[in-house]
Amino acid sequence: MSNKSLEATVDPELVRKWISDIGSDSTAAVPLLQAIQTEYRYLPRTAMDLVVGNTSITASQLYGVATFYAQFRLRPVGRHMIKVCHGTACHVSGADRVDTAIRQILDLREPDADTAANGSYTMEKVACIGCCSLAPVMLIGEEAFPHLKGADAQRFIQKHAKGVGEALPGDAGKNDAGDAAHDKPGKTKKTMEARP
Ligand code: FES
Repeated sequence: MSNKSLEATVDPELVRKWISDIGSDSTAAVPLLQAIQTEYRYLPRTAMDLVVGNTSITASQLYGVATFYAQFRLRPVGRHMIKVCHGTACHVSGADRVDTAIRQILDLREPDADTAANGSYTMEKVACIGCCSLAPVMLIGEEAFPHLKGADAQRFIQKHAKGVGEALPGDAGKNDAGDAAHDKPGKTKKTMEARP
């Protein structure tokens, strides 16, 4: 679902500067997309149009690259990412219940909604993140939260929100985060991956 209120205002001069610095043939597609996404956290349509209009990269090439790699996003995202693993081990261990609990705390009512209306968090379903013995697991940023039940996921999000000064939709953010007796969050690696 497109949330117009979260769409970025693109600075055309900035996009032209990236083109001038990075290049304008098809080999520049990935670094240009990375520059755009670093600035806006997703790939605004306006910025994509500017690249197509000012380089030899065609729209189908640019969108082909943008949709091939999992790192690129075509819709506005929140200030923080929550990745919910839906790989086999996590699926068997209750990833759907975790997913439902997160959707509830972010007040995501439409089936295709993924970003809280206040722009705080975006949730994303991901394939196996490589720590199946900890299933079901989610990441907030790069921190992994293992062996989750739905209520745990909600508490960890509340705690995170409190820590970074974010409000959660509705009344959810007013509750105390509380503590959960779980393994400590762990770091994960960033990689350039094609979509599953
Ligand atoms: S299936 Fe979730 S970490 Fe592997």
